[in-house]
Amino acid sequence: MSGTDVFFPPTEFAGSAHVGSLEAYRDLCRRAEEDPEGFWAGMAEQEVHWFEKWHHVFEWNPPFVKWFAGAKTNAAYNCVDRHLETRGDKAALLFEGEPGDRRTITYRELHSLVGRFANVLKAQGFKAGDRSVIYMPMVPEAVVAMLACARLGITHSVVFGGFSAEALKARIQDLEATLVLTADGGWRRGKEVRLKGAVDEAVADCPGVKCVVVLRRTGCEVTMAAGRDHWWHELEEGVSDECPAEALDAEHPLFVLYTSGTTGKPKGILHTTGGYLTYTTCTMKWVFDLKEDDVFWCTADIGWVTGHSYLVYGPLAAGATCVMYEGAPDYPAWDRWWDVVERYKATILYTSPTAIRALIKQGEEYPNRHDLSSLRLLGSVGEPINPAAWEWYHRVIGKGRCPIVDTWWQTETGGILISPMPGAVPLKPGSGTFAMPGILAEVVDFHGNPVAADGEGFLIVKRPWPSMIRTIWGDPQRFEQQYFSRMPGNYFTGDAARRDADGYFWILGRVDDVMNVSGHRLSTMEVESALVRHPAVAEAAVVGKPHEITGQAVCCFVTLKQGSGSNDHHALAQELRQWVAHEIGAFARPEEIRFSETLPKTRSGKIMRRLLREIVTSHTVTGDVTTLEDLGVVTKLAAQHDED
Ligand code: WT7
Repeated sequence: MSGTDVFFPPTEFAGSAHVGSLEAYRDLCRRAEEDPEGFWAGMAEQEVHWFEKWHHVFEWNPPFVKWFAGAKTNAAYNCVDRHLETRGDKAALLFEGEPGDRRTITYRELHSLVGRFANVLKAQGFKAGDRSVIYMPMVPEAVVAMLACARLGITHSVVFGGFSAEALKARIQDLEATLVLTADGGWRRGKEVRLKGAVDEAVADCPGVKCVVVLRRTGCEVTMAAGRDHWWHELEEGVSDECPAEALDAEHPLFVLYTSGTTGKPKGILHTTGGYLTYTTCTMKWVFDLKEDDVFWCTADIGWVTGHSYLVYGPLAAGATCVMYEGAPDYPAWDRWWDVVERYKATILYTSPTAIRALIKQGEEYPNRHDLSSLRLLGSVGEPINPAAWEWYHRVIGKGRCPIVDTWWQTETGGILISPMPGAVPLKPGSGTFAMPGILAEVVDFHGNPVAADGEGFLIVKRPWPSMIRTIWGDPQRFEQQYFSRMPGNYFTGDAARRDADGYFWILGRVDDVMNVSGHRLSTMEVESALVRHPAVAEAAVVGKPHEITGQAVCCFVTLKQGSGSNDHHALAQELRQWVAHEIGAFARPEEIRFSETLPKTRSGKIMRRLLREIVTSHTVTGDVTTLEDLGVVTKLAAQHDED
């Protein structure tokens, strides 16, 4: 085996794993490849409860796919009801609020909460086919909101609480949502993050919104619009908790999640019901090796796809006990996460390289204050994990005992596509190792031909899988153009990758104009559009710049309008950073604003971001995030991509 460090699955781990050897892993892959229909039908039968069975396992008319057509199921039923008999008193959620409030919610209690809230929504006149936007803090009611919608067939779109009123508005409008579920606010770093105010601002321009339900969380003062806004607890008074789950088509739209594309307008990624549930539950076993006694902690916010697939739908459908923590890792001190791991005896921890790097910076004394011996498996997601972060995670958190699963996937893929199976696959730090069974991932050149071992190219997937994106909400052309026009019949991921001589995948980064800041996707164009809406800005070009903690940081090149009267560049830079935070959300706040006389452009007038990217990256960078970035390659591939 090539590569310096290889970590074999610990014997004990492999001995009790769902997939305990390379042969077993390869056997699954072989079965899935040779007989995809039989393989996925078997998985769907094993992992999901169906009210009615399908006529066809899948129908593939590229770029459109249907999974389990003709079947009826319900995501909330799968996440809650079907566990009542066997796991009614098992904890579904172990919740800890940032101020220290704690709640254990069993599957039986979750069933009541979801049923009651679904009845509330029903009484307000909402039904299958309607759309809701959920803009809530990380509290159990956010999960209840998602599941209550799913129970009735209301397609939800969760908007991360860090997004601004402007961003929220754009999403409500694009989805034509008629229902908004929110809270007065949430807690973050000891401060109240007010949500209802942003909802008021957004909904003022959304006449289609008929009803806003507000959860009381922080107790701050809010304004309630008569007839439109209602308190969650008031609507629930005297309402029954028995609400039958609707039998929905396997292809019923479960949720739309907006993510950044290469234009200024975010894309509404549509996921449906049966295939999504099948795949997310399968990966709970394959990737996380989930067992009945595990305590699973995914630190992602429900506003991102990781929160959807691995805090809510995957683990709950698999009957897991999930830790849910509301706030920041450094509140009241940098050992908060380790306190949570110790208190709930978490066995599996799933987080991002950005978080790990931030924790490393604080020193080992924080984790060392706590008993982390309950942990048996660690996971990483969102961006490549650099060797130093991997080593620290493995040694300081996992005490050298816990395998690390480096999981590659995207909002569009719905679930994890490339990751080690921890009981089967030897790890190489920084590599996602191999694809899951049935995922025919390949690294190809510009013509779609596989590249030789160790060669770099575009990462594609050659066959549909159950949890793949179905379309972009309201824009099937953009869906086809974005993912299937380059190599018809194949899903184009937008990532560059390399496969080494052992067949291991190494993800190199995006080939399009998408940045990855703290594992969150952000479009350069989205930030540019926000900047040019400012009265002083003539033109803007935005690129990602390597950053020690967040992987990439937002760097903006700005030209000013003649006579904009701004000589104080320092003050204007501050103002523009704040402006972007207001237009998109605080997490998009640029790290750097550089003023420039002109911007480099192609003859056809396209901004040459790749030159700017070189400018911001060619400086020496502190930290070791650069070690994984083969910028030359990504730049070259990006250039081919641009010129096409
Ligand atoms: C992009 C998807 C999937 C949930 C979080 C992000 C990058 C994701 C990895 C990884 C290297 C990764 C890719 C991908 N990415 N996971 N393990 N190693 N890169 O979801 O916002 O849809 O972003 O994140 O570039 O395309 P997303």
